[in-house]
Amino acid sequence: MRIIYDANEMHSIADKHREWRKIIGFVPTMGYLHEGHLSLVRQARRDNDVVFVSIFVNPLQFAPNEDFDRYPRNLKRDEELLKREGADFLFYPSVEDMYPEGFQTYVEVEKLTKVLEGKSRPTHFRGVTTVVAKLFNITKPHKAYFGKKDAQQLIVLKKMVRDLNMGIEIIGMPIVREEDGLAMSSRNKYLKGEERNQAVCLFKALKKTEELIAGGEDDVSAIVSEMRKVIEGYPLAEIDYISVNRISDLSELERIEKGNTLVSLAVRIGNTRLIDNMWF
Ligand code: PAJ
Repeated sequence: MRIIYDANEMHSIADKHREWRKIIGFVPTMGYLHEGHLSLVRQARRDNDVVFVSIFVNPLQFAPNEDFDRYPRNLKRDEELLKREGADFLFYPSVEDMYPEGFQTYVEVEKLTKVLEGKSRPTHFRGVTTVVAKLFNITKPHKAYFGKKDAQQLIVLKKMVRDLNMGIEIIGMPIVREEDGLAMSSRNKYLKGEERNQAVCLFKALKKTEELIAGGEDDVSAIVSEMRKVIEGYPLAEIDYISVNRISDLSELERIEKGNTLVSLAVRIGNTRLIDNMWF
């Protein structure tokens, strides 16, 4: 595996692979890799001739009060894991290379970014779409892999690619979880002792929903109130939102629509904000 630090060099490597008619698979990440990330790399390895992975902690998607400075980093370990998975190129640019002095061009998906995570984090998705558009221009992938863990991100990026005719296939991959059900996340590292135990409440609330829906419940307010009850059993947990939305346009639902429903929630455990979701 080669590590490429320079955007122009990565761009020429991508051009060469396109010239050679290679199918390029791309997995963008912010590093501190876990099994969730690696499941994307594995799928990319199966589907493509060449696999590019990027690690870039993107300042543009963090608000000033968020954790950009303390976001966990461990390049050496990430490098080993990616080698083991058979990634071909790791793109690891600097902030200066991605956002040189005077940078002023942004990509914005409008309506889909105003709800859910966008309400709590109003500038977040503009940062995500801008950096992913740049990374797509640099790595020229045929296929790009994203986790359903960040459901709204996946939906927003699919919209961006369609609206701007980027011609890239966006592949959404299942959520990888810890043994107790906690969705894997680089931010889980922030959870200490009892916080880690109680972090399972997001999954427990979603499991409750799964049971209710399996039992024929389709009334959203009943489901949300049951989810609230579950979370309220965990004293360290503070609900930011619980929401039930149509996958196609993220509009709020009053009744479950089978095959088109996203149940998602954000919960604070101490100082750590966690998100999770299930697709029905
Ligand atoms: P990051 O949080 O590092 O996640 C990189 C990719 O891994 C995303 O597509 C995310 O949904 C996926 N992922 C994270 N945890 C997962 C899990 N438990 N199961 C399955 N997939 C999981 O998301 C970002 O970085 C950034 O916003 C990025 C797209 C790289 C743009 O900066």
